[in-house]
Amino acid sequence: MRKILITLTVALALPVSALASGDAAAGKAKSTVCAACHGANGKSPIPNYPHLAGQQAAYLELSLKAYKNKERTGANAAIMYGMVANLSDKDIADLAAFYSSLEP
Ligand code: HEC
Repeated sequence: MRKILITLTVALALPVSALASGDAAAGKAKSTVCAACHGANGKSPIPNYPHLAGQQAAYLELSLKAYKNKERTGANAAIMYGMVANLSDKDIADLAAFYSSLEP
């Protein structure tokens, strides 16, 4: 049973551990362009644009990668395509760490 649990835990943890762990301070420095739409504190001043503050880092990272690969479509997704086009995996991880560190 214990062995099964350990195997399960490792298997479930894999997709998350495959993500890079970001540096929030570096992410803050890279977030200037994002602030126009998502707010300097991660709270969007525009009602139909999402708040990012306090969101889980792994979710933010996966979302940004999905925009980069144009896998996320519909609504206002195209607005994000240009924002992420030139971001590296490290930039994405740093930005995700920054926004998840903010007070929701
Ligand atoms: C011109 C306005 C604008 C800018 C600048 C912008 N975003 Fe966005 N962002 C949006 C909009 C609009 C959406 C919602 C898109 C949709 O409907 O999928 C969004 C969605 C997101 C999401 C998904 C949130 C969720 O809850 O699923 C993340 C993460 C994100 N943006 C991060 C960033 C980062 C990081 C930057 C800077 C590199 C940035 N955005 C710059 C407008 C912008």
